[in-house]
Amino acid sequence: MILVTGGAGFIGANFILDWFAQADEEIINLDNLTYAGNLENLASLKEDKRHVFIKGDICDSSLIINLLTKFKPRAIINFAAESHVDRSIEEPDSFIQTNIVGTFRLLEATQGYWDELEKNKKKEFRFLHVSTDEVYGSLSSKEKAFDENHRYEPNSPYSASKAASDHLIRAYHKTYGLPVLTTNCSNNYGPYQFPEKLIPLIIINALTNKPLPVYGDGQQIRDWLYVKDHCVAIQRVLEAGVPGETYNVGGWNEKPNIDIVHTICSLLDTLSPQIDGRNYNEQITFVTDRPGHDRRYAINSNKIKRDLGWEPAETFETGIHKTIKWYLDNQSWVQNVQSGAYREWIDKNYKERIL
Ligand code: NAD
Ligand code: DAU
Repeated sequence: MILVTGGAGFIGANFILDWFAQADEEIINLDNLTYAGNLENLASLKEDKRHVFIKGDICDSSLIINLLTKFKPRAIINFAAESHVDRSIEEPDSFIQTNIVGTFRLLEATQGYWDELEKNKKKEFRFLHVSTDEVYGSLSSKEKAFDENHRYEPNSPYSASKAASDHLIRAYHKTYGLPVLTTNCSNNYGPYQFPEKLIPLIIINALTNKPLPVYGDGQQIRDWLYVKDHCVAIQRVLEAGVPGETYNVGGWNEKPNIDIVHTICSLLDTLSPQIDGRNYNEQITFVTDRPGHDRRYAINSNKIKRDLGWEPAETFETGIHKTIKWYLDNQSWVQNVQSGAYREWIDKNYKERIL
């Protein structure tokens, strides 16, 4: 079996659902259900014995040691993190705690467990750390896409905490020989994404006749990858990645934020037209920029293509169509996710932004 952390969040839940669609190997899912963790994402696995959910914190060393001793996983995939840049600017503490201290505690416990494994199991064991392209910092329009050797230059408390966790992962390989793998991926989108992030926020605000907030001039560029392509990449790295290596994962799909918002609006005009005939893009509102906002990310994913044969299956056009359809077809998930805590965050983040 494998141990997955953060499996009730957006990418972790997609990963688990996709895993069980093609394999029967059990997953222990350790997640402390922060505001971003949602067991409704895994509702289809409620009676499924292959999925064992444990509510707990990756900072809790004794819990992790107990889980490793009891379940003896052949691999760990670490998705657990605080993941939203704007929240890291407002309240960085939990980012330091989970992303840095949590990764450290997980590594310490894993190191002790791995040391005691018998020779063959030790050789086969893998610790895969799921990281982000944001650790590399911001690119100008002329610079080349990030490859795996790009310098680390994180600019937000979130990306700095992820960079620190990546360094710890590397150190445990170099110093203790722990067989780690790191993936640095670009912006994901797709089913089950918490609507604090750009794409689901725009879809939900559009459908509820609210402003569509675009930070600054809307010309910041991100590389967008459909979440299920990311999940396939992670599986591939787990199967065939070389311990100690890092793999950049991206969609070869750079787009300015304003183009993303226009695309969502025009798809919604077709898939869910407004009764009064107005176009959704009339709701676009330019708002105060994010402090330290990275201008451009771009990912060079030649290494994972060359060494492991991975490429994205979806284009942005097919992926965004599927995503919008999913949000339209899953209205009860959408309603339930907008709890009191969600409303508090939206009020806090946008109250002073909306001009
Ligand atoms: P998310 O915020 O949707 O989910 C994070 C999950 O981790 C939640 O279920 C939460 O409850 C859990 N968690 C948080 N703190 C925990 C702790 N201390 N102990 C146990 N569980 C904890 O995040 P996501 O978008 O699914 O991202 C998953 C991982 O992928 C993160 O490490 C993130 O940095 C990375 N990543 C995300 C993206 C993206 O676009 N979303 C892109 C590249 C990399
Ligand atoms: O690049 C990978 C990263 O992508 C992941 O590591 C992070 O976990 C994930 O949250 C994401 O970070 P971003 O900051 O790029 O994602 P977000 O959806 O918050 O914002 C995308 C872009 O849209 C960014 O330039 C900010 C902008 N934006 C965002 C929001 C929420 C807006 O213009 N308006 C908004 O309301």
